[in-house]
Amino acid sequence: MVEDRGQFSSKLGFILAAAGSAVGLGNLVAFPVMASKNGGAAFLIVYLFFIAFICYPVMIAEISMGRRSQRNPVGAFSDLSGGSFAWKIVGMLAILTPFMIAVFYTVITVWLVVYLKELLSGGLESLSQEATFGQLVAEPSLFFYLIFLLVIVFAILLGGVKGGIERLARVLMPTLAVMLLLLTAFVLTLDGASAGISYYLVPDFSKMSLTTVNGALSQAFFSLSLGMGILITYGSYFSREDNIPQSTRMVTIADTSVAFFAGLLILPAIFAFDPNTNTDDLSTSSVGLIFSFLPKIFLSMQVAVGYTGASIVAVIFFTLVFFAALTSLVSIVEIPISCWIDEFKISRKKAVLVQAGLLSLFAIPAVMSLGMSDFFTNFTSYGGVTKSFFDLVSDVFYETILPLVGFTVCIFCAYRWKMSGLTSEIVVGDPDFEGSLLQKYMNFSLGTIIPVVLLVVFISTVYTIYL
Ligand code: PHE
Repeated sequence: MVEDRGQFSSKLGFILAAAGSAVGLGNLVAFPVMASKNGGAAFLIVYLFFIAFICYPVMIAEISMGRRSQRNPVGAFSDLSGGSFAWKIVGMLAILTPFMIAVFYTVITVWLVVYLKELLSGGLESLSQEATFGQLVAEPSLFFYLIFLLVIVFAILLGGVKGGIERLARVLMPTLAVMLLLLTAFVLTLDGASAGISYYLVPDFSKMSLTTVNGALSQAFFSLSLGMGILITYGSYFSREDNIPQSTRMVTIADTSVAFFAGLLILPAIFAFDPNTNTDDLSTSSVGLIFSFLPKIFLSMQVAVGYTGASIVAVIFFTLVFFAALTSLVSIVEIPISCWIDEFKISRKKAVLVQAGLLSLFAIPAVMSLGMSDFFTNFTSYGGVTKSFFDLVSDVFYETILPLVGFTVCIFCAYRWKMSGLTSEIVVGDPDFEGSLLQKYMNFSLGTIIPVVLLVVFISTVYTIYL
């Protein structure tokens, strides 16, 4: 019997699930920090430019590959290339990437669970102390929370595409939007918030540099969940009656709006906390910002709303981040699962079990990488720095490889599947695509400027991190 692969129930179901994947730590934390450090609205303009001219076409290409082949990334690259072994290997890279990103994203999500539990038991004060993060992430009790999280994630994935992934997104995405709007509205009423708003929204072009431009593209790519095989797989669950360019536009708008509002939340909060904030001091890593810096900001709100009030705001914020992380985590763990189902013809139940075992196998050393085990904490060194197992996974698969996978998608669509193949899939559900400006732009750019830009970003990242 051929396993029923599952399908989203409607266009809206797809949009919510894809937005659930796209909205994550990248939007809520990395984006506000990058924008504040790189000239505010000036960064925003460059970012929007990349979203529209680079990411949007790549996203359409990924979704179309999935929908045409009705396969996971390995199957999609191999089927659409007529069984080419070399392209199958490329597809494997598009499975390995989400597989490993899931490992390190699981660890961060476990920390979020621990923080939520601490906050709910009145621990805001202790979380805002410098040393707390280091202690919490080295505690063996983390394994308990790891199991708790994995049970939730795999129970959702056992529910399948419609009953698991889509249902989760249908509940969590609207909740997330409401929480984000309410929190932003609250923070904007605080004294000092306006300094943050002007810092964010007044463009300062003098802060722009080549590194900024590079960073804006990586951030845009990452934020839309591109280069992770996710949209290829989600495309394979997308109905052939629906319009790919239009749905892609909605996902892009949702993702970018959340990033924009997160900036409007985080920066005014920081400036209300300390009007003399020097943004150079803001941590570059999202992890440092959420777990070490933001608890201090929330604690400082007790002057205005009392300790309980401040704790409630913190709980709402961390719940928001947890929801965003959970929908992203579910989306990324689904990719290897869909591969096991398609390629090994096993049932979803078996595939979920296999993946649960494999993910745990790698998540355990990653959890132990922050002080619990010396071996995993000082796992290796490159670029002149000692790196843990967690750092290694994050550097290779999160920071570096996505533009390379994006590059292969473009080259594949332009030169192997060919624009005629891609177009023939996009017109299903969108007959107006033929002859449109978008088609002309994709015809011209997908095999030329877009892959070149992605390759440049890839090479420069390799250069910065490893050499
Ligand atoms: N787009 C996500 C974000 O902005 C990135 C991501 C997706 C990470 C899926 C992991 C899994 O955070």
